[in-house]
Amino acid sequence: MTSGTNQSEARFDFVVVANRLPVDRYTTAEGEPGWRTSPGGLVTALTPVMERLGGAWVGWAGADTEGISPFTHNGTRIVPVPLSAEEVESYYEGFSNDTLWPLYHDVIAPPTYHREWWDSYVKVNRRFAEAAAETANERATVWVHDYQLQLVPGMLRELRPDLTIGFFNHIPFPAYGLFSQLPWRTQIIEGLLGADVIGFQRVADASNFTRAVRRLVGYETKGTSVYVPLESDSAPGQTGGYRRGGPTRHVLAKHFPISIDSASFEALARTPEVQARAAEIRSDLGGSGKILFGVDRLDYTKGIRHRLKAYGELLADGRIDPADVTLIQVASPSRERVETYRQLRDEIELTVGRINGDFGQIGHSAVHYLHHGYPREEMVALYLASDVMLVTALRDGMNLVAKEYVATRFDQDGVLVLSEFAGASDDLTQALLINPHDIEGLKDTIMTAINMPQPERAKRMKSMRKKVRENDVERWSTAFLAELERSAAARLDEARGHRVGAEQQ
Ligand code: G6P
Repeated sequence: MTSGTNQSEARFDFVVVANRLPVDRYTTAEGEPGWRTSPGGLVTALTPVMERLGGAWVGWAGADTEGISPFTHNGTRIVPVPLSAEEVESYYEGFSNDTLWPLYHDVIAPPTYHREWWDSYVKVNRRFAEAAAETANERATVWVHDYQLQLVPGMLRELRPDLTIGFFNHIPFPAYGLFSQLPWRTQIIEGLLGADVIGFQRVADASNFTRAVRRLVGYETKGTSVYVPLESDSAPGQTGGYRRGGPTRHVLAKHFPISIDSASFEALARTPEVQARAAEIRSDLGGSGKILFGVDRLDYTKGIRHRLKAYGELLADGRIDPADVTLIQVASPSRERVETYRQLRDEIELTVGRINGDFGQIGHSAVHYLHHGYPREEMVALYLASDVMLVTALRDGMNLVAKEYVATRFDQDGVLVLSEFAGASDDLTQALLINPHDIEGLKDTIMTAINMPQPERAKRMKSMRKKVRENDVERWSTAFLAELERSAAARLDEARGHRVGAEQQ
């Protein structure tokens, strides 16, 4: 895959570009710094592809990691992009997570618009694009990920027109009425259109994007196709004056719903250690009662407050007895320096405290609230131990937790309560689908889930498991990469056609 012998100048045929690297720094037992594979959906999704294709991953190594040279980890070339402390604040915490994240999630929290944050976003996106340009072989494939890097495709195409460029948006793409708030909306659209294939989670995300293209830059779109004009009548640096009817470049904007490595979750669930741990969790909680379970990054998009409200009211109404039912809520720490996240943590912890104060008993809490991240083994044990899984996101690109729960339940048991605002609900139609804003509806659905007879639980779980098994992450990446390959082949054909045409003239 590599060419050249100098490792620091090695170039690759397949390059992933994402805000985060697939590795985290940690301190070994001997007190030495080491790197280990990081948890999280994207890494889980891409690890099998990287293992298969080999290649390089360009990304940020996390806070306080400036000055690290490229290295190889488990066969993947790791190319760190440094961010200064100021850029972490303005590009990552600011523009990515306090402007784009709330705007793209239906303004559940108000987005903040700061021009200095935007300037930093442009600067950092350019740094990622340059690092990718220096890492990619001639005519390589580069796959850029997520909202933090939406300008990279356009910048990369300018630097390296020979590359085939894919972009995948892991989070929702908002409706035009919301997206149009963004002062830099046109630059974002043009940045994304540097890609050959732009992937979204849901059909609606892709159509929100093509609508924004029509409204903001006026390019022709047809279904999932966008035709980017190659000639413009505008002055350099200006947009909008493209030449109609002139030559165009084809961009595919389509949904590719992401998934999980479902077989590995099932395999883990079948291990005696994980089953013993699941039994231990159940017996620690008293053995016979029902366990409700929620696990999320501590994020306002996840609807944790709505879930706690519904649960608290069910206890207050006497519809459930705290001696018979327990809620385990794992909230893994996230973006803790962003104010909205701090506030959310306070609100959640206040609510948990109230519920436990009102309904807890000595030796038995109504809510077991855990503010930690857990290794996958523990998560799978918790999935297996729980009777009802609560996914109540107010807006979520996909929500892989829902799919992990289903993949784990080889015993064909457990009930999934799933928000219709999570992309996972497109596939998992046999879940109990809810609108998390409708607290009464959510309460009734939790009761239905708790009381669902075993044959119905098995029937629903079986059907969902079939979906998750068939549409696993390998299928997702294969489908996306196949479109990229098609696009690369079409461009090569076109280039050959032009050459033949020119020779014949
Ligand atoms: C979501 C985003 C990812 C992001 C992850 C964790 O899943 O789509 O791009 O990496 O959240 O957030 P963080 O800000 O810690 O990277």
